[in-house]
Amino acid sequence: TVFPDQQKAAVRVAQRIANLIRTKQDKGQHTVLGLATGATPVAVYAELVRLHREEGLSFRDVITFNLDEYYPMQPDAAQSYVTFMNENLFDHIDIDKEKVHIPDGTLPREQIQAYCLNYERKIEAVGGLDLQVLGIGRTGHIGFNEPGSAPNSGTRLVTLDDLTRRDAARDFGGKGNVPTKAITMGIGTIFKAREIILMAWSRKKAPIIKKAVEGDISSEVPATYLQLSDNVEFVLDEDAASEL
Ligand code: GLP
Repeated sequence: TVFPDQQKAAVRVAQRIANLIRTKQDKGQHTVLGLATGATPVAVYAELVRLHREEGLSFRDVITFNLDEYYPMQPDAAQSYVTFMNENLFDHIDIDKEKVHIPDGTLPREQIQAYCLNYERKIEAVGGLDLQVLGIGRTGHIGFNEPGSAPNSGTRLVTLDDLTRRDAARDFGGKGNVPTKAITMGIGTIFKAREIILMAWSRKKAPIIKKAVEGDISSEVPATYLQLSDNVEFVLDEDAASEL
């Protein structure tokens, strides 16, 4: 779906999330959201905050799992995805912080594998992801599933692509300060979500959107795996869709 601009697209995505939460609330059920970081979802989170403040949308029955976190990363660091989520969403809504899950960037290396398996189990224990929102990196990564990621991959420790680290350099004051690793949900984890929305804005994303939507399905561009799913919507602005 192509929107004239990012703001209109973000409002539509936020409305869809709000409708899901309200429909499930009416049935006495919780909603399980898979959330993303980066500049792309910021306008969606701002609109969700507005819906909470002005239209009474409640997040008390919402459980969230974030896609990824840098490794190593302290949660209170300025660049952590914990800080990002708190500043952009969680500090401004009535979510129960006990129901928020973001991969832990502080674990000793030898505990990560068991931690990642447990992350998957926690998602399954609450009934699986109702909706996963995604951005896309210029390498074609979703979450931090870089080129080479297997379609059935689970939550795990990964090595970041050089281009991904260059794109993050500004946030860290230089590429050398960007962690070389991250913990990310896998492609397989993302695929289990009942609905997936991938968002992209601006001309900078147009070449990778063309590859993701029209290119051959290949681990070289992990987002191409989404072509295999029939519950994915690409939500784009005109600039990101300009090469399609
Ligand atoms: C990071 C995140 C991804 C995100 C990507 C794009 O690498 N781990 O989940 O999709 O950046 O970022 P942006 O939305 O800032 O372009």
